[in-house]
Amino acid sequence: MVTRQMKHILLTVCVLLPWSGNLWAADEGHPLLDKGVATYKTFCAHCHGLNMVNAGTSSYDLRKWPVENKEAFYNSVTNGKGSMPAWGDIILPDELDAVWVYVASRGGKRALPDDVNPLDSDEAEIENVDSDDEDKSSSAEPALDTDISTQNAMGAQDESAQLLAAPPETLKAGTLKACLQRNGGALSGWRQDGGIGLDYELVRHVAQRLKLDLDILWFEGELEEESDPVRENYALLALGLCDVVAGHPLVAGAIGEPPTPRAAPPRWTDQPFDWDPHRHVDLQPVAHSTPYLRVEMGIVYNGERVAKMPKDLAALGSLSVGVEQGTIAGLLTLRQAPAIVAKHGQTNNPGPVFLWKLEQGEFDAALINVPAYDFHKRQNPITSLKLSDYRHPLAFNIGLALLESATSLQAHVNAIIEDDLKNGEIKALADLSQLHYALPVAPWVTPRMSLQQLIASGS
Ligand code: HEC
Repeated sequence: MVTRQMKHILLTVCVLLPWSGNLWAADEGHPLLDKGVATYKTFCAHCHGLNMVNAGTSSYDLRKWPVENKEAFYNSVTNGKGSMPAWGDIILPDELDAVWVYVASRGGKRALPDDVNPLDSDEAEIENVDSDDEDKSSSAEPALDTDISTQNAMGAQDESAQLLAAPPETLKAGTLKACLQRNGGALSGWRQDGGIGLDYELVRHVAQRLKLDLDILWFEGELEEESDPVRENYALLALGLCDVVAGHPLVAGAIGEPPTPRAAPPRWTDQPFDWDPHRHVDLQPVAHSTPYLRVEMGIVYNGERVAKMPKDLAALGSLSVGVEQGTIAGLLTLRQAPAIVAKHGQTNNPGPVFLWKLEQGEFDAALINVPAYDFHKRQNPITSLKLSDYRHPLAFNIGLALLESATSLQAHVNAIIEDDLKNGEIKALADLSQLHYALPVAPWVTPRMSLQQLIASGS
């Protein structure tokens, strides 16, 4: 789940690249070369080999990249290729330029042909890309408005009163069908006799208050790079497999018009055995309920090795720090504490195994999302890991996803969630699930952020 939700956010980060190239006198080392070497070492070397010398693995030999093919290089690196992940959301535009210089100059051994030189491309473009979106997000600074009663996702009060007068429409009259992730970490897990986690408790509670039977469809969140959790949720709804999908991240790009016209659903329990896993379905616009949880990031540290609670990222300075690869927390650690990471950091694969490594003392501390810690603690109640009081300012809300056309169901569900946020019922369900609970904060949907804004979020 950790990876899945963090991937949601990564998908929303938008970075466009300056393309135009210009002249550069080729006798001396290119001014971007040092940066290219450093970027290559951080992000590329563990697959493509130190100095691009490949350890005979399956990754492409970058020394053979056709130098005139700059656009194809930018495209493959930005969007991914075959089993190589996409880097567009991870590395900054000027770093991509620098890596290009490194690769195209064969590690600085050759001059770059004039027309493939990224210098003199319009720097300002980096700041101004997608200016519509940027404007929106800067004007919609996450306000620290915790007054839930002022928010009504349905808009006009009387409209929702009307919708609430009749019973909610569901796929099957009298039943709420909910899709839950069976390997959803602290939020949802399948059990022989039902389920576990806040998502599970929440849909049970909502169905009960709506006087509906509950029918749960358990699906498997895939951790592969190619899987796209947002589109999978859209596909589950479009296929009519459930009325609501729990645990949906409320971030731009994960709500409203489908991100792509078609997508395949994830695997689910009781899926017909002849179901073609590559079958794509037409997607439909998706709406969200009032959120019931905020996912925050905190510092987890090994209490046996670290005596004093680290109070912020700077306090990690004297510790060895783990970086969870491919997650927002990992990215922020790399970007907001770069000196620390360069000195004592080590990158690790994402997922539950990450905190087990911290437990075993492979490193001392890490920035990670709080439910991942809660999940670890549930699996290992005698853990020596502790959660610091520090919370990173970047966080996002979690709600139920449902089809935009399901307006009556949305009105009913929102009324219940808003009521239960106020009366503490949802917090009680979170306590029952042994979660550190944080109330949702407006704006409900985190606006799209550029990578620069994301990085700036910690300061
Ligand atoms: C996780 C391992 C991994 C990492 C990290 C990685 N690559 Fe790759 N890369 C691959 C593999 C595997 C291929 C071969 C992909 C294929 O064709 O199936 C590849 C292919 C490529 C190609 C050729 C793409 C094409 O169009 O044929 C380029 C260019 C490339 N990588 C650049 C980079 C750069 C630059 C970085 C660092 C920002 C990077 N890679 C990081 C695994 C990796």
